[in-house]
Amino acid sequence: VSSESGLLDVRLVAGRGERLVAGRRADVLGYNDGLPGPTLRVRPGDTLRIELVNRLDAPTNLHVHGLHVSPEGNGDNVFVAVQPGESFEYEHRLPDDHPPGVFWYHPHHHGNVADQVFGGLYGAIVVEDPPDAAGGAEVEVARERVLVVSDISLDESGSLKGASMQDRMMGREGDLVLANGQVMPVLEARPGERERWRVVNACVSRYLELDLGDQQLDLVARDLGPLTEPSAGEAVVLAPGNRADMVLTAVSGSTTVRLVPVDRGESGMGGMMGGDGAASDAVDLLTFEVAGTVVGGGRPLPSPVAARDLRGQEPTRRRELVLETGMGMGGMSFTFGGRAFDPDRTDQEVALEAVEDWTIRNDSSMDHPFHLHVWPMQVLDAGDGPVQDPVWRDVVNVPARGTVTVRVAFDLPGRTVYHCHVLDHEDAGMMGVVRVG
Ligand code: C2O
Ligand code: CU
Ligand code: CU
Repeated sequence: VSSESGLLDVRLVAGRGERLVAGRRADVLGYNDGLPGPTLRVRPGDTLRIELVNRLDAPTNLHVHGLHVSPEGNGDNVFVAVQPGESFEYEHRLPDDHPPGVFWYHPHHHGNVADQVFGGLYGAIVVEDPPDAAGGAEVEVARERVLVVSDISLDESGSLKGASMQDRMMGREGDLVLANGQVMPVLEARPGERERWRVVNACVSRYLELDLGDQQLDLVARDLGPLTEPSAGEAVVLAPGNRADMVLTAVSGSTTVRLVPVDRGESGMGGMMGGDGAASDAVDLLTFEVAGTVVGGGRPLPSPVAARDLRGQEPTRRRELVLETGMGMGGMSFTFGGRAFDPDRTDQEVALEAVEDWTIRNDSSMDHPFHLHVWPMQVLDAGDGPVQDPVWRDVVNVPARGTVTVRVAFDLPGRTVYHCHVLDHEDAGMMGVVRVG
């Protein structure tokens, strides 16, 4: 669905229903009976109006992940609870200079986020490149594919499998990995054709490292807007919530696009719980069939863009946030600095227009992808020294026992959250509240 005359008006019905998954009837969740939900296409400056209808049997709401929009009122307000049978009208006004890129939407009602996303509630949002903006020349391609990657577990009868204690500790990974709701879809192209792939990691906990075999790949953007230089041959690792925007030049032959196992540490409770560690198995994601007559290459990729850079500015304040796990009464605890999420407490008070450095320290033995709502993060140090080019993220992985520093311009007022994007950890309390104003 695309916007016309600056307004995109959509209705998303969150419900449960029968769908075909891996060739079998399955009873799963979805928006508008789809898996994933519809891709929403907008442009910077547009208004995105979404009526969310809850036909689930539990409360839900809707978050627009990565969008730089107000978190207040009927904006991107994660404190709203939409009860079963009720609906809620969201309205998001994208600033005129909103970064283009691929974003996504998913439920954010604390306590059942992991279950609802795992069940099938997610969809992509594309913020189109502004035409003829400085450096923003649209990439010329034969076709564009939005690839929403998710995972799910179904039992014999096709019902959703619940999460075990171990699943909730490490973060659950599904038995099936889906590309746009399908197991191993076949995509076709002709040799020499250029395609734009916009990949969303909508998995609850699974990290994705894509292996595209012999296909020729240029990464053009991550999370929030363009890279300063398209980079060829770089490993593409997406933590939960991350996106990648890449241009592929099709090479003849049949390629199995695979997910390479990613080691994300261990819970540290292995001895007690039996089984530990979470290096997911290698998984085949899709088949890319390239055959037919060779097509000439298009124009060269757009020249490097001057990305926004906050490094010339002095931070107004520095903070340290600590990702912590521990052993509690009911199992493991997941917190920031020992304090579990409380919607009524504000953890970080930030002045409007402040530019702050946040150091995220991971005191645990597993990785945690740190996510901040509303305000893009510029990564200054990903744990191995200063980052060279401007790198913008809304989810940044903080390795086990590692530290990451980001700089953030808090240029929109409002109260919202930051959290671990392993959604089982978020539901368990690894989330805090930030208020800007
Ligand atoms: Cu993708 Cu707070 O969420
Ligand atoms: Cu988000
Ligand atoms: Cu986590």
